[in-house]
Amino acid sequence: MRIIMIGLGTVGTAFVKILQQKTNEIQKIYGIKPRVVAVVDIKGAAVNPHGLSLNELFESKQAQSSIALHPDFKPNLSSIEVLETVDADVVIEVTPTNIINGEPGLSHIMTALKRKKHVITTNKGPLALALPALMELAAYNRVLLRFSGTVGGGIPILDLAKKCLTGDKIISIKGILNGTTNYILTRMDEDGVSMEDALKEAQQKGYAEADPTYDLKGIDPACKLVIMANWIMGKSVTIRDVDISGITGVLVRDIEEAKNQGAAIKLIASIEGDKLSVKPQLIPRRHPLCVNGSLNAVTFKAEYADEVTIVGKGAGGIETSGAILRDLIDIRRELTLLQGT
Ligand SMILES: NC(=O)c1ccc[n+]([C@@H]2O[C@H](COP(=O)([O-])OP(=O)(O)OC[C@H]3O[C@@H](n4cnc5c(N)ncnc54)[C@H](OP(=O)(O)O)[C@@H]3O)[C@@H](O)[C@H]2O)c1
Repeated sequence: MRIIMIGLGTVGTAFVKILQQKTNEIQKIYGIKPRVVAVVDIKGAAVNPHGLSLNELFESKQAQSSIALHPDFKPNLSSIEVLETVDADVVIEVTPTNIINGEPGLSHIMTALKRKKHVITTNKGPLALALPALMELAAYNRVLLRFSGTVGGGIPILDLAKKCLTGDKIISIKGILNGTTNYILTRMDEDGVSMEDALKEAQQKGYAEADPTYDLKGIDPACKLVIMANWIMGKSVTIRDVDISGITGVLVRDIEEAKNQGAAIKLIASIEGDKLSVKPQLIPRRHPLCVNGSLNAVTFKAEYADEVTIVGKGAGGIETSGAILRDLIDIRRELTLLQGT
């Protein structure tokens, strides 16, 4: 399988490391022979139709925080030019999330789909703004769009609902989909730390971005909720359909009151009927959704299985790159099934 990587940051690098270390295993177990034929970062692109040397990619990244020293590097070759001219089967889009207009990821994904390349992304922005349209574009061009890593990093939240609960009907979804805010609320709850100090701690531990606005205002979990609503429940919604309030109004006093009621305040993203919301809610301390620290958790209420909860680390380069590999294997399986029909 010929792969184009757009972005080689935390997630992209972790994924290429998996390929470097496990190519033989992946081929033996899953019958996939991955070959990275192009990698693009801000400075330009490295392209080699026979497959790039991954060792040289890492050496260049280490020396210059960029792929610019790779022998196949072409400065100023843009991602769109690469997507339009380089032959490949799958594009892995791992550029930064932009929730204002989805760019540059949105153009990358649209161009790749129009060029009949399958797409795997961990970038929530384009999906939160335009998932129904992107799914239509993929179907029209008879290619696949996969995005396991956009919700819960490496936790197979989307796969659990979509594959393991096949035949059942998901009636509602409730979840903690943001590790940063869960860490902050946990610190406020356990040690009475102020929100400001808890945020500083989260930044020092690498859970929170330098600009934590998307997390604190509930935008990040709202993006994930939109992806779940479309993919799992077949709705056709975007982030504009979500009623969003973040955690900035939560006081230590509110948390103490919740404790007195045997509950904790959590930032809950939920889908109930036609209502999509992200807001702080009281969760009973003994409910499986009441997880602490930077953990994520999602409870699906299904017609037959009733409540099913999945818990895990919601982010991290290596965790999320595992989700990309899952998607790659899923694409191969789907293609094999299609060829057999
Ligand atoms: N990190 C996580 O734990 C995690 C978990 C789940 C989902 N995600 C999502 O996954 C995506 C990637 O995350 P990350 O942590 O790997 O981000 P990152 O470390 O900031 O890496 C982003 C990469 O995209 C490249 N890039 C930026 N603009 C570009 C453009 N116009 N054309 C080509 N390349 C461009 C950057 O190039 P340079 O190297 O030249 O700067 C960099 O290599 C994001 O959307 C993020 O929200 C991340």
